Amino acid sequence: MNDPNIADIYDLPEYYDIIFADDWESEFEFLRFCFDRYVDGPAQRLLEPACGTGRLLVELDQAGYDVAGVELNAKMARYCHQRCPSADLLAGDMSNFQLAQFAQPEPFDAGFNMINSVRHLLSEQKAVSHFRCMADVIRPGGIYVVGLHLTPTIGDPLEEETWVATRDDVTVTCHLETYDRDLDSRIERASLSYDIAAKDRDLQVTGDLSFRTYTAEQMEQTLQTAGGWEIAQTYDFTYDQEQPIVVSEKSEDVVYVLKRIA
Ligand SMILES: C[S@@+](CC[C@H](N)C(=O)[O-])C[C@H]1O[C@@H](n2cnc3c(N)ncnc32)[C@H](O)[C@@H]1O
Repeated sequence: MNDPNIADIYDLPEYYDIIFADDWESEFEFLRFCFDRYVDGPAQRLLEPACGTGRLLVELDQAGYDVAGVELNAKMARYCHQRCPSADLLAGDMSNFQLAQFAQPEPFDAGFNMINSVRHLLSEQKAVSHFRCMADVIRPGGIYVVGLHLTPTIGDPLEEETWVATRDDVTVTCHLETYDRDLDSRIERASLSYDIAAKDRDLQVTGDLSFRTYTAEQMEQTLQTAGGWEIAQTYDFTYDQEQPIVVSEKSEDVVYVLKRIA
């Protein structure tokens, strides 16, 4: 078996898409529920910062929404463009972008960022800048749905998980493991590995990911510093529309529905 340790796991969008696109339906249904329930007026123009392969954009595009994305990794952005050519895609940094950079520079009705991408912004300055950029491009009455794992201040956080997905003749086993967490610098390091089994090849690749840690209080502080947002409701990663949650010191996976206030 080859073992080409690669520096950036996001340089392999074709495998990312197999492993992460598998379970798109619950997120898709949940997002549609949020657009209907929390956006004032129609929700037609949608933006996904850090859109990756566009696994959700493509489904929303097919459902009739106008979709746009921002993505830093050139290989991800190229894959997303091929997969969803009608997406208004910006190759850039989600902590530094403006409406004028999109092909159609009109305010968005809603944004979403479902699985921890906000935590890739490793400083308070970048995180605040991201939420300000989002507030600048989403109209008042619109929403931003943000899913992330918080670090609980009571109890032990989840340290590793493994899951498997298959597309056509390719099976990918994904292992995500947190190996270092410094709550003072607020940096968490994780390894993400793919075991890829296909008819004509077997491959193992591993990459490192860095995440910023957030307690519930730290998340609220960042939002307050950024301004322009209020927390309309909170859910968890079960995406159960009937079961909003109350965020506590024990909370780990939280989906914030942020409302853009004037
Ligand atoms: C966990 S993936 C999520 C992709 C997609 N949102 C999804 O739900 O499948 C994180 C993505 O964030 C992108 N990313 C990381 N930092 C970024 C930044 N500063 N600006 C834009 N994209 C970024 C990565 O390249 C990667 O595609």
